[in-house]
Amino acid sequence: MWRRLSVSLIDSNRLRITRIREIKKESPSVKTFIFHDKLCSKAEPGQFVMVWIPGVDEVPMSLSAIGPDEQSSITVAEVGEATEALHKRKTGDVLGIRGPYGNSFAPVSGNTVIVGGGTGLAPLAPLTEELAELHARVALVAGAKTQDELLFLDRMTTTLSRIEGRVVAVTEDGSHGVEGLATDVAEQLLEKERFDMLYTCGPEEMMYKLFLLAERYETPIQASLERLMRCAIGICGSCVIGKFRVCRDGPVFSLKQLREVKEEFGRFGRGRTGKRVRIPS
Ligand SMILES: Cc1cc2nc3c(=O)[nH]c(=O)nc-3n(C[C@H](O)[C@H](O)[C@H](O)COP(=O)(O)OP(=O)(O)OC[C@H]3O[C@@H](n4cnc5c(N)ncnc54)[C@H](O)[C@@H]3O)c2cc1C
Ligand code: FES
Repeated sequence: MWRRLSVSLIDSNRLRITRIREIKKESPSVKTFIFHDKLCSKAEPGQFVMVWIPGVDEVPMSLSAIGPDEQSSITVAEVGEATEALHKRKTGDVLGIRGPYGNSFAPVSGNTVIVGGGTGLAPLAPLTEELAELHARVALVAGAKTQDELLFLDRMTTTLSRIEGRVVAVTEDGSHGVEGLATDVAEQLLEKERFDMLYTCGPEEMMYKLFLLAERYETPIQASLERLMRCAIGICGSCVIGKFRVCRDGPVFSLKQLREVKEEFGRFGRGRTGKRVRIPS
């Protein structure tokens, strides 16, 4: 068993060169890149890969689709040097992939609520598909600033139409769905119903509010956190939060773990020099 485990760790940590098979524009600032990779097609929802953009940088990205046919995807917001360079890549261009890394969302088959903001919906999309297969009850709250930035609405609506599921779109400017914040809609749902699990990924301020709601409504939560990452295998320490390393102990954290890091969660991350920096609200 140990031999099998160490071989699979070595395999996933090896940089594999792949080509972009297809690019899909999801919104003015977000693109999905589809590529072929055997190991990624065996990943679990919530796991991430390190994506090497030759000549530029290597950045962590959640898998937004996992298989079938050994095709997977990442969904990338253009925010800085590496993601701008990735957005300029064309079909057929080369990428390097390491991983999949980290833990994954633990699926439950009961009554679930999923709350995603912006590209936070990337790891939540394959999770929604997995929960649909388990015939869980799913309420998906998809939040964005504007209608343009709402991701995967058609994909999620189709998935959830097959089960007892619903999608609530929320935009801050009211251009689509409910006007307001995803956390306000989540609070209304938590007030009315008992959920067996709250899953979330998105801006940390949003996830912190959901953590407080999970405490208030005594609902278990799984939140996928982001931190600066370099090694992705628990060595360099760039991604620490409290006693945890997000790359190795996360990125998905439970209510109990979030309680242990609540002094930092939603408030502080680490900059490139390792210094504590305030998370912008
Ligand atoms: C486990 C994990 C999974 C991730 N999954 C995804 C994903 O599926 N899709 C995705 O688009 N990103 C994802 N990210 C975030 C992504 O890694 C960063 O956006 C990326 O590294 C930024 O690199 P850059 O060189 O383009 O920008 P940088 O030069 O590093 O940053 C440019 C500016 O953007 C800000 N910034 C950095 N990250 C973000 C962000 N996420 N949102 C808004 N502003 C930001 C920085 O503070 C800085 O001001 C994930 C991160 C982690 C840790
Ligand atoms: S990225 Fe190096 S320890 Fe997490």
